[in-house]
Amino acid sequence: MKRIAIFASGSGSNAENLALYFKNNPDIEIAAIYTNNAEAGVIGRASRLGIPSFIYSINDFKEALSIVTHLQSLSIDAIILAGFLRLISPVFIQTYKDKIVNIHPALLPKYGGKGMYGMHVHREVIKNNETESGITIHLVNEKYDEGTTLFQAKCDIDPFDTPELLAEKIHELEYKYFPIVIENWIHTL
Ligand code: GAR
Repeated sequence: MKRIAIFASGSGSNAENLALYFKNNPDIEIAAIYTNNAEAGVIGRASRLGIPSFIYSINDFKEALSIVTHLQSLSIDAIILAGFLRLISPVFIQTYKDKIVNIHPALLPKYGGKGMYGMHVHREVIKNNETESGITIHLVNEKYDEGTTLFQAKCDIDPFDTPELLAEKIHELEYKYFPIVIENWIHTL
């Protein structure tokens, strides 16, 4: 059994989608959800799903040791970033080497880096009149959005698309592919 922790800062729709996908899986369990945001929608989702959630300060995430100790006490094998908007501290990277995955709502290496998250990404993509965007699922290293790519999927952008419409298209891709990519990847650990 592989035990996964999800880190999320916002609504948590990807976290919920993953939890539902793995609900009755005998090999993979979404065992805990961690957030830096006490107002995050993901907390309500976790409680409805019966998954324990834990709120830590931004400083706790930076310093990392107390969270790592907590993860280890729960026997967590891997971490999934699902809309987690802070840089991951090197302590996490060293402790969970090649065992942390992020989903990014664009086709990296375009539209990545500090400040590039959620709607900021979609606004930039639309502003630049791109004709396609997509998702990137990648391993996490010390730099924003620069770890090895595991998977990408694309969608077209129509002339009338707004950042909000693009966000919907991206979420559809995320819901469709993220669980499957995680399932395949986790078996390699
Ligand atoms: C997702 O689209 C995810 O790709 C993005 O935040 C959204 C979270 O939505 N992540 C980033 O931008 C990371 N740089 P959700 O809270 O509904 O899952």
